[in-house]
Amino acid sequence: MNFAQETLISRRSIFSFTDRPVDRDLLEEAFEAARHAPCHKHTHPWKFFVMGESTRLRLIPSVERIVRIKNPEATLQHVEKARQKILGPPELIAVTSRKSPDDPFREEEDYAATVCALHNLVLSLWSRGVGAQWSTGAITRDPVVPEVLGVPEHEERVIGFIKVGYPEEVPLAKKKALDEIRFYLS
Ligand SMILES: Cc1cc2nc3c(=O)[nH]c(=O)nc-3n(C[C@H](O)[C@H](O)[C@H](O)COP(=O)(O)O)c2cc1C
Repeated sequence: MNFAQETLISRRSIFSFTDRPVDRDLLEEAFEAARHAPCHKHTHPWKFFVMGESTRLRLIPSVERIVRIKNPEATLQHVEKARQKILGPPELIAVTSRKSPDDPFREEEDYAATVCALHNLVLSLWSRGVGAQWSTGAITRDPVVPEVLGVPEHEERVIGFIKVGYPEEVPLAKKKALDEIRFYLS
């Protein structure tokens, strides 16, 4: 199997990371891959924000609020687990896509292009042994995020966070068989 195919097929979402830091060079290489994603009308609607410790800490009051709203019985352990989802990953990247309130089709195409860019980033990292997980958990959709990123909410949609780091383990994932998804028509 060639290296590209091997990278595509072996990639899994990684849910637990080692403490090993990810070199800035590997992040830059991955952003370079993201930059080359396909994009109709060349709108390049994506932006990536690598959130350092103080930026992440600004999200924590909202993380704690969300946990307690979801589960009024939340224990300190529940709250700590939610905090670690933000503070724990070696790198945490917020991804935004440009909104087009007056043009829903443009906004949809731009979202699709941003997802291509995001996946280029993930695959580039994976090709270097670095894992990632896309998260669309409640905190990623909280109004605090655009505020902390400094992006106007009416211009940019936060489409999720990418957690990045070296895998502690690589999980299995169920996939549909080829026969269920591919149809050659006459
Ligand atoms: C749009 C999108 C949002 C996701 N959001 C979450 C999430 O909030 N939490 C989570 O644990 N995984 C999330 N994932 C990762 C999926 O759970 C994962 O892709 C799925 O289990 C399939 O595994 P694989 O990526 O290893 O093929 C998300 C994936 C996508 C594509």
